[in-house]
Amino acid sequence: MAHPSIAQMTLDEKLLLLGGQDNWHFYGVERLGIPAIRTCDGPHGVRVHTDRPDGSCDPATNFPCASALAASFNPDLLKEVGETIAKECRHYGVQVLLGPGVNGKRSPLAGRNFEYYSEDPYLSGTLAASFIQGLQKHKVGTSIKHFIANEQETSRLFISSNVDERTLHEIYLTPFEIAIKHANPWTVMASYNRINGVYGCENTHTLMDLLKTKLGYDGLVVSDWGAVNDKVDSVKYGLDIQMPGHVELDLRLKAAVERGEIPMAVIDDHVERILRLGERVYKQSERYLTLDLEAHHTFARKTAAETLVLLKNDGILPLKKNTKIAVIGRFADDQVRYNGGGSSWLNAYRVERPLDALKTKAKVIYAPGYDQEKVTKALTLEAIAAAQQAKTVLFFTGTTSSMESEGFDRANIDLPQSHRKLLAQVAKVNPNIVVILNNGAAVDLRDTQPMARAILEAWLLGSAAGQPIADVLFGDINPSGKLAETFPLRLEHTPAYGNFPGQTDHVDYTEGLLVGYRHYDTRKLEVMYPFGHGLSYTTFKFGPLSVSTTELNAQDSLTVSLSVTNTGKRSGSEVVQLYVQDPVSSVLRPEKELRAFKKVFLEPQETQTVTLTLNARDFSVYVPHLGRYAVESGAFNLLIGASSRDIRRQVSVNVHSSDKVRPHLTLDYPYTQWIRYPQEKVQIEALVKATRPPFWWETEPPLNRWLLILKREFNWSDADEARIKAQLLEEA
Ligand code: BGC
Repeated sequence: MAHPSIAQMTLDEKLLLLGGQDNWHFYGVERLGIPAIRTCDGPHGVRVHTDRPDGSCDPATNFPCASALAASFNPDLLKEVGETIAKECRHYGVQVLLGPGVNGKRSPLAGRNFEYYSEDPYLSGTLAASFIQGLQKHKVGTSIKHFIANEQETSRLFISSNVDERTLHEIYLTPFEIAIKHANPWTVMASYNRINGVYGCENTHTLMDLLKTKLGYDGLVVSDWGAVNDKVDSVKYGLDIQMPGHVELDLRLKAAVERGEIPMAVIDDHVERILRLGERVYKQSERYLTLDLEAHHTFARKTAAETLVLLKNDGILPLKKNTKIAVIGRFADDQVRYNGGGSSWLNAYRVERPLDALKTKAKVIYAPGYDQEKVTKALTLEAIAAAQQAKTVLFFTGTTSSMESEGFDRANIDLPQSHRKLLAQVAKVNPNIVVILNNGAAVDLRDTQPMARAILEAWLLGSAAGQPIADVLFGDINPSGKLAETFPLRLEHTPAYGNFPGQTDHVDYTEGLLVGYRHYDTRKLEVMYPFGHGLSYTTFKFGPLSVSTTELNAQDSLTVSLSVTNTGKRSGSEVVQLYVQDPVSSVLRPEKELRAFKKVFLEPQETQTVTLTLNARDFSVYVPHLGRYAVESGAFNLLIGASSRDIRRQVSVNVHSSDKVRPHLTLDYPYTQWIRYPQEKVQIEALVKATRPPFWWETEPPLNRWLLILKREFNWSDADEARIKAQLLEEA
């Protein structure tokens, strides 16, 4: 049933609703008592714009960046982050938060990788769903972004991401799909770029066929800010609201509606979605009166601690308290890297400096080391002197804000050369070095890794950037983060190398499905740190696997159980990762794919049973000629690991399905192609037996040509020929 207000609206009122009122508000209809809705960025916390003349924003909790949050592998945590941000939104009057971001990671060079969760679509979608649930529980809407294939900043306003249908579904649509299925974000943000030549905000295939029809999305599609290229086309092809405002009544659009080029039903559907959003979000009169930013800060610390990934440790960590340590680098002090640049920026409440927290645990000699990327002789000497006096050196490095941000892609994945040179100088006088990294996406660690006895990945950690780092280094917290993206050995090994950021106006996603560990594992490339990797101060033992069945039909589900024991002396968490492998397939399958995971917290010697569930989708591939996911019968391996390269247990199951996954055969294919498939082989062999064709037909000629020769030779009638062709094609 249509919303009752629609019948009362004039055409002008309806059309005005399809644009923004100002930078951060959608329109309302005052005459009908429909209020304007307020939105704000972004994925790491709410940026609260005010009316103050200086343009300042109100303070809010800055959570770790999305790539860090993903390293927690903890959906419950993401939900609580969502809830906490929601409380701040609801206090400040923000009704829709412009996040989370779930774009993919084709290349570590992509400038906004820090705003996106993972190279794995299942992990991204699962975490996004929890984050969204947390916010929407408080009636604060979300805007999952950027729909779709928006994996770079270079030429982002006009680049065409050229991507095949299977890759589009399996890699780039999946996170949106999971989030929509499990959390239904109330808005989706359509991207700046073109997808296979058509702008994201005017793309009937992505907005109508995929999002609104196939995924059955009933929410509102808003343009990225400034992404609308042609207003009439955007309205016609599925975009509901153009942002930002002030958008005036578009007379070209009005004329298109009046002459019937755009049916009124299309306009009404847009309006309906806008009104639906209005009913979903809280009303301004229902704002939360109190706001406890201190409590949120404490929670941000807990969150940050779960995202820290211990990449390397030869036993130097945890450090002993009250020893003499040298802390080198301004990232530990007044240049703390806590968020990336661009629209995810917010006025962070109480940014902690790691140096302050470290001083409470040890005797600290501090040396600034650098000013952003600049290192002078005096700074070098000071750093060396500090290192000489200390037992251990904590060296802070990472990307600077001019290296990694929205708006541009990275030039390389190196740490600043000046920092690396400084580290080498320091390493000459003190080999006990712990490197702390602040960056939003993978970096090249080839020369840093050998100089460090331990490496802690500390991301862009948000407002609570200090205490958690000190707590992990000194063992008050046991690290439990796992990489949600591979750290490659070198840029040249990365999936889209040579094909990123593409040509002037287009980028071909030629790596297809092979992104992230799907690429490194399938191509057997050595990596620096694999997907899912992260060390702990304790050890975990995985018990034997048991499965609920080893024979299942494609529509059945299956459970996989195993026990996990903390065999060390400290409490800690492990992430049990379940990958599915299809060893024999008629279409390309990545070496393995993450399909389930579970983070478990265990006291020393404690054992818990972990049960993970798989269903048909977890064995399936997207089949373009069927227009759906389908499962191919056969054996699948279920791999349980502590990272994608640390598989501890394995079991095989047989899945039975009647789906035909391989490409359609046509008579343009030669015999050699046809006989690859058992059913077709039987048909062809019957034909061979009946006709004894010339010897050379088995190789090059397409069946069409061969049939023509047979027709001549055996005097087939047209009807005979048609019957034989139909027989062959029946199952093709
Ligand atoms: C970004 C979006 C953001 C919007 C509003 C755009 O430039 O791509 O992610 O939400 O600005 O600030």
